[in-house]
Amino acid sequence: MHIYRTIADLRQALKLVKDEALSIGLVPTMGNLHKGHLSLARLAREECDYILTTIFVNPTQFGPNEDFQNYPRSFEDDIAALTSINCDAVFVPNIEEIYPQGPGLETLVSVPNMSKRLCGASRSGHFDGVCTIVTKLFNICQADKAYFGEKDYQQLTIIKKLANDLNIPIEIIGVPTSRETSGLALSSRNSYLEPEQLDQAAVLYKTLRKTANLIKLDRNLNYPELEKKALENISSAGLKPDYFSICEAQSLLPAKAEDKDLIILTAAYLGKTRLIDNISIELT
Ligand code: PAF
Repeated sequence: MHIYRTIADLRQALKLVKDEALSIGLVPTMGNLHKGHLSLARLAREECDYILTTIFVNPTQFGPNEDFQNYPRSFEDDIAALTSINCDAVFVPNIEEIYPQGPGLETLVSVPNMSKRLCGASRSGHFDGVCTIVTKLFNICQADKAYFGEKDYQQLTIIKKLANDLNIPIEIIGVPTSRETSGLALSSRNSYLEPEQLDQAAVLYKTLRKTANLIKLDRNLNYPELEKKALENISSAGLKPDYFSICEAQSLLPAKAEDKDLIILTAAYLGKTRLIDNISIELT
């Protein structure tokens, strides 16, 4: 597996790949790879000729009081994991390579409205940081397909909209969330949790499932009331919920009684660790 650290070196290698008319699958990550990331790369491996993973802890998507400095970094293990699944190349730029004028001082890509709700309401500027780095990676890598986890459902929806709105010729693929046996969604941030907190955190998915089942059983339930009960349930397990929202799956607006394609999204803090999860429901 080749490791590229500069845009110039990566572009030179990708030119040869393009000359051979090979399809490129891009897996953008911030490293500290777990089984969830590897499921993205495995799907890319099945669907594309040449697999490129990027590892870049993007400073512009972290708020001033967030965990950019402490974000878990495990470069050697990441390289070993990517080698084991036959990834062709990994792009590991440093901050100067991506933001020569300094993070936050360059052109910003923003998907309005959708970026301000849910996680965006308490993480101001987060999705602008994501949209900007993802657009840069799309332009640098010129991939045919890019793979993102459904765990970050709002991110995935925003990236699909950005690619569509900006006419970027890339197919965005969402990959189902990998979970612990308790149901807890795999996340790099789970490494901040103590063993007993890992069990405690499973309340998020349990509450999502319970709420989804209630909606499937009775279409006339009042969504704001269900959300209120879910928030109480999460709080009583010792987490500090940020939101629990039953939304229409494409717009991410609060679901109306007649909507059939729903997504329930939640975010909560366990200690200082922010956890997110979601579940989709298709009503007939
Ligand atoms: O989901 C992530 O790991 C990041 O937000 C991404 C898409 C790699 C952009 O930095």
